[in-house]
Amino acid sequence: MNAGILGVGHYAPEKVLTNQDLEKMVDTSDEWIRTRTGIEERRIASDDMDTSDMAYEAAKNALEDADMQAEDLDMILVATVTPDTPFPSVATMLQHRLGANKVAAMDVSAACAGFMYGVITAQQFISNNAYKNILVVGVEKLSKITNWKDRNTCVLFGDGAGAAVIGPVSEDKGILSSELGSDGSGGEYLYQDDTLFMNGREVFKFAVRQMPESSVNVVKKIGLSEQDVDYLVPHQANIRIMEAARQRLGISEDKMSTQIKRYGNTSSASIPIALSEDVKAGKIKDNDLVVLVGFGGGLTWGAVALRW
Ligand code: ACO
Repeated sequence: MNAGILGVGHYAPEKVLTNQDLEKMVDTSDEWIRTRTGIEERRIASDDMDTSDMAYEAAKNALEDADMQAEDLDMILVATVTPDTPFPSVATMLQHRLGANKVAAMDVSAACAGFMYGVITAQQFISNNAYKNILVVGVEKLSKITNWKDRNTCVLFGDGAGAAVIGPVSEDKGILSSELGSDGSGGEYLYQDDTLFMNGREVFKFAVRQMPESSVNVVKKIGLSEQDVDYLVPHQANIRIMEAARQRLGISEDKMSTQIKRYGNTSSASIPIALSEDVKAGKIKDNDLVVLVGFGGGLTWGAVALRW
């Protein structure tokens, strides 16, 4: 049984923090941020909105899109590095709040690749017929671990949530191939101590190599070529890293999601937010070959090729 995406949804907090706002907070400029990263603005959650609250809104949206109720779910996976608390997990909070039956629920920790780890984990349970419908959420309140005095990092990140309902689809549809990997030797390049620390240059070097490579790998695994890709949804960390993946596939600009402009890097939430935005805008059509690809702290990475 193939596993496919039956519905998508997202939630973005109302408060918009622009590059101009950041100019007043640290020594930076709109021009520097736009040209180096592609980011124009990001969303910041209010004090009374925690990670699980955003996850709940995105989950409701995805269930509605899939035309399903919480009772239809068999499992809940939440990718996040900014849970409300280390435990109980955001996934169990969501199970209770959505009113899902007493289904399996757990958080997945793989930083910005977390949503890909969640989707590919869900795929295993569906393809071996253990479960039918699985909710996968990617959600972050990065603002609570951001050092707002560090211009190297604070201009990059934002808050938000994205979700997808994964379920059985016909043999020629859904996830056709996947790839997951990690390299803990690069753990020192991106981690949370009190706040978030990042060696931007090292992460950049890793990402411009890994994201294009994983994108090509999942397409080759199904015997297709790079140009067969109809749409690319890369982790929205930096437009220059995303461009490296797009150019390696040799596809035109309109075939890649660029929600980074409006949301910045929302870590685990970036791929499902971009996917939800683009599906709802009609950019992804029935039968399109779509590649989702992410990388993150760990270091971690993951990709899928799927037939929409
Ligand atoms: N405003 C102005 N100047 C800045 C800013 C800023 N916000 N931030 C850094 N600079 C300065 C630096 O201090 C440096 O100055 P120096 O030359 O005097 O030392 C200069 O700009 C250039 O710095 P570089 O690091 O060379 O800039 P680069 O072009 O590499 O861009 C960036 C930096 C955007 C961080 C880039 O390296 C990058 O995107 N790296 C990957 C980051 C990433 O993807 N992180 C997410 C990982 S996913 C996850 O798990 C969270």
